Amino acid sequence: MKREVDIGAADSVEPGQRKLAFIDGRSVVVFNVEGSLHAIENSCPHNGASMAGGRLEGSVITCPAHGLRFDLRTGCMPGVEGLCLNVLPVRTADGKLMVEVE
Ligand code: FES
Repeated sequence: MKREVDIGAADSVEPGQRKLAFIDGRSVVVFNVEGSLHAIENSCPHNGASMAGGRLEGSVITCPAHGLRFDLRTGCMPGVEGLCLNVLPVRTADGKLMVEVE
């Protein structure tokens, strides 16, 4: 069943910032890329590394462990068929940051 979880104030992730949250024991990272919010499960599909500290260029994040790159907009590797991050719907509502989880 899908539900939305409040993970803090909408303005707690300003453009260029990221925020780590825990939902039901799962680690989730929310990024604000030039005003667009993106949420992912904090686990690289390659080998499970944390993505929270990954280098971001535009909307493309590099996994700190082995350097695979993923576009936060799709979750997938740009330009190649490959692995994809688990992207979660995220929005702001009533001044809160809401992430949708199953
Ligand atoms: S765990 Fe992310 S690239 Fe290997």
